[in-house]
Amino acid sequence: MVVLGSVLRMLLLWSLVETHYGATAEQRPRLICHYTTWSQGRANPYSYRIEDIPGDLCTHVVYNFVGVDVEEYELTTLQREIDIVQNGFGRFIDLKKRFPDLKLHVAVGGWDHGGAPFSKMAAYRNRRQKFVKSVVEFMARYSFDGLEIVWLYPGSVERGGTPNDKDNFYYLIDDLKRAFQRAEQPWEVAIQVPADHTRFEIGYQQDALCEIADYVHIAGYDLRGSWTGFADVHSPMQNRPHDQGNYRGLNVQDGVESWLSKGCRPENVILGVPLLGRTFLLRNSQQNALGSPSSGPGPKGQHTYSEGYLGYFEICQKLKEPNWRMRWDPIGLCPYAYRGTQWIGYENATSLEEKVKWVTSKGLAGIYAFSLDLDDYRGKCGEAYPLMKSLHKLIENQAKPDSGIGFGIDREIFGY
Ligand SMILES: *[C@@H]1O[C@H](CO)[C@@H](O)[C@H](O)[C@H]1NC(C)=O
Repeated sequence: MVVLGSVLRMLLLWSLVETHYGATAEQRPRLICHYTTWSQGRANPYSYRIEDIPGDLCTHVVYNFVGVDVEEYELTTLQREIDIVQNGFGRFIDLKKRFPDLKLHVAVGGWDHGGAPFSKMAAYRNRRQKFVKSVVEFMARYSFDGLEIVWLYPGSVERGGTPNDKDNFYYLIDDLKRAFQRAEQPWEVAIQVPADHTRFEIGYQQDALCEIADYVHIAGYDLRGSWTGFADVHSPMQNRPHDQGNYRGLNVQDGVESWLSKGCRPENVILGVPLLGRTFLLRNSQQNALGSPSSGPGPKGQHTYSEGYLGYFEICQKLKEPNWRMRWDPIGLCPYAYRGTQWIGYENATSLEEKVKWVTSKGLAGIYAFSLDLDDYRGKCGEAYPLMKSLHKLIENQAKPDSGIGFGIDREIFGY
């Protein structure tokens, strides 16, 4: 114990020294930006191209998405036209010419892709091996720096999963990690995981996953939506009085704390924040407080084109129209707004600041923002990228060694 203790102390002191004398890029808090290929299809001026990515605001950018081929069990493109014909992968990697410090990752999976292809591929060792081999070839061919697995969700039967996914997900990440090591490449393996406690038990070997993955990205959003039958913000920080039953604990802090309590080290955990709002139709326009009954999703946005969902750039313009009431959830620490039977729960610079402060106090590795094309990127409500710029500023301030806050390491030393 004594020996272990002093080894730990040395390691901690060593990281302290490293932090104060020339922190490497690796130790700087991360601000990971997600780029979505489909946003280039929007009508102008909203078409969002790879060349639009503000590489100076991010430490990492993630290309969304590639997928799993369910017949070959290999990594596959989901949008051949964009990725290959228009040279999306190549142009994405070319961002390094303009932003030499930027790290570029690729995400596999996503909501539309679903869980079934992962479930089938990960079920057998030979299929996993085939997949992993194709990943190694892909990473080498395009020179990505890392891979993020977005399996939504292992063990989720209604999304084509099986109870075996829980073990198989772990085996998959283990196989990927070993293959990258064998290839003697610095490629990272990150996993995107839910903050939703109802999903942990059925799909996640939380402790083992945290040990093996380089980074665990916890999605701190979409925790409420038109499917829940009441109007609410979707990324609340803590329990509010109206959170009962399954909704108790369904919030950012409890979700992250659960992963930490399972043994995840804070310096490997990233909190995901949304640049989108969730919209509702109220049953009764007179009943508009948090948790009021809703009858369904709000209408499609003109550009994001999906019911119950709006990008911040759509929300900020909508809220300029007359008669919107803007409110603040004082416990969940998120803004919401309503007019008549329309109701929107979203994030603004103030709620994002609350999240960064909390992430800093927990010593987490940083933030990921989903996604660049949902911020006010054309500056329709003021300066362009208001949310990304404010996240960037907050994260930069935390990164300064003399800011007195630091991301975690200093506080661990003092508490030792
Ligand atoms: C965020 O929304 C709340 C509630 O409307 C408001 O009080 C606050 O000023 C907003 N923050 C910013 C930066 O706009």
